[in-house]
Amino acid sequence: MKKSAGYRSVSVPEERLDEFFDVVQWAFVGEWLREDRQDYVDALPVERARAVEVTDEHRGTPGTLAGVHASFGTEMVVPGGRRVPTAGLSWLGVHPGHRRRGLMTTMIHDHFERSLARGESVSVLYAMEAPIYARFGYGMGSQTVKAEIPRGAKMWDVDGADELTVRLERASFERHDALVAGLQARLSRPGTVLNAVGSGRNARFTDPVGNRRGMEKWRIAIVEDRGEPVAYAFFRRHARSSVGIHDGVCQVREHGSLTPAAAQRLWQTLTDFDLVETTMTENLATDDPLLHQLKDPRGVRSKVIDNLWVRLLDVPTALAAREYMRDCDVVVQLTDKHVPANAGTWRIAVTGGEATVTRTDDAPDLTMDVRHLSQCYLGGTSMESLAAAGLVREHTAGRARELAVAMLSPVAPLANWDF
Ligand SMILES: CC(C)(COP(=O)(O)OP(=O)(O)OC[C@H]1O[C@@H](n2cnc3c(N)ncnc32)[C@H](O)[C@@H]1OP(=O)(O)O)[C@@H](O)C(=O)NCCC(=O)NCCS
Repeated sequence: MKKSAGYRSVSVPEERLDEFFDVVQWAFVGEWLREDRQDYVDALPVERARAVEVTDEHRGTPGTLAGVHASFGTEMVVPGGRRVPTAGLSWLGVHPGHRRRGLMTTMIHDHFERSLARGESVSVLYAMEAPIYARFGYGMGSQTVKAEIPRGAKMWDVDGADELTVRLERASFERHDALVAGLQARLSRPGTVLNAVGSGRNARFTDPVGNRRGMEKWRIAIVEDRGEPVAYAFFRRHARSSVGIHDGVCQVREHGSLTPAAAQRLWQTLTDFDLVETTMTENLATDDPLLHQLKDPRGVRSKVIDNLWVRLLDVPTALAAREYMRDCDVVVQLTDKHVPANAGTWRIAVTGGEATVTRTDDAPDLTMDVRHLSQCYLGGTSMESLAAAGLVREHTAGRARELAVAMLSPVAPLANWDF
């Protein structure tokens, strides 16, 4: 019997959402509160909710769902500030009673086929566990700094920061969706995922009671320059105290700033709440302005982890969609076990920042898997460093550097919120 025999892929209509959510709770280890149901429905792109269903009684009860996934139809900023149609894979989980039967593999193939049919040439995701997705051609496209910043951390002065004003409010889809989307649309950092809209609203407003663990509901800080929003952050606090000492925490989720002064004003605010000793954040790029503005970088406890996993689904279209720093002419031999249309030998020729990607019979300069090209796509990883690590094979001396310099981004890529 084939590993994944006895199951079939199905769409999940609204009336089956409770079954969908049941598998999610089994897979992600948690019991949701009844009152949170609508929050999850609103955040789920129901028209793109998919599952694998049992068809053979030897596998379970026929008609029940064993694995689920969904994807957001979105756009991602790529080097040069352009946008590429992108599928944001999310909600992927397999019921523990059906693990290791190839269901994730079946669902990923289903996702790839449907995304390609919709014209989405790139798939991106956040991984619960880092080792899972490389086997499917995803490369770690960006990294993020998780940081704990002490209250009142000193910063180098930035002109104009003092003149900006800050509004602190309870985060509300009705009041803040257009404001946040408008600000985010002006962020030019590669990896910025513009919107992830569920059935009811943008998924960034998800706020289930069961996930708060004593924290407040999400709040939003909005920095303004004479009434014009120039930065925002979602945050929430948790009061803690022992032996008369208050050491509460502030958690920052998504944030973005349009100017250096706005970034400084935002972080001065987020690191100076009464009764809060530590501000915890992720979604900081490895070169985030905050990290340069802090006077004592070692005063911040930090760790660098994977951020966005990127998978080129249509290699020539995705490569042509971004801009390049330098001209290059490199022949790349690609392996791609899961999307065979990408496998083979390609000439990547860049002139004036634009790439033309064509099939060729010429001998390859470089050999790699699609995950390595995907890892370099947003410009945060150098192709030469992958060659130095022995992951990319260089047949013509200097070609890994040629492609590296063409593909690199002057600013580190980052998706500033997880969907
Ligand atoms: C991770 C998960 C989706 C895997 O589903 P699955 O149906 O068991 O996966 P498959 O049977 O298709 O496995 C495909 C391959 O991935 C490997 N794999 C599966 N889970 C893995 C993990 N957690 N870490 C590393 N490798 C893993 C399998 O060993 C298999 O390798 P093989 O092809 O060499 O045999 C499932 O275990 C799960 O739902 N876990 C909890 C939720 C979660 O982590 N979801 C991912 C969210 S980002």
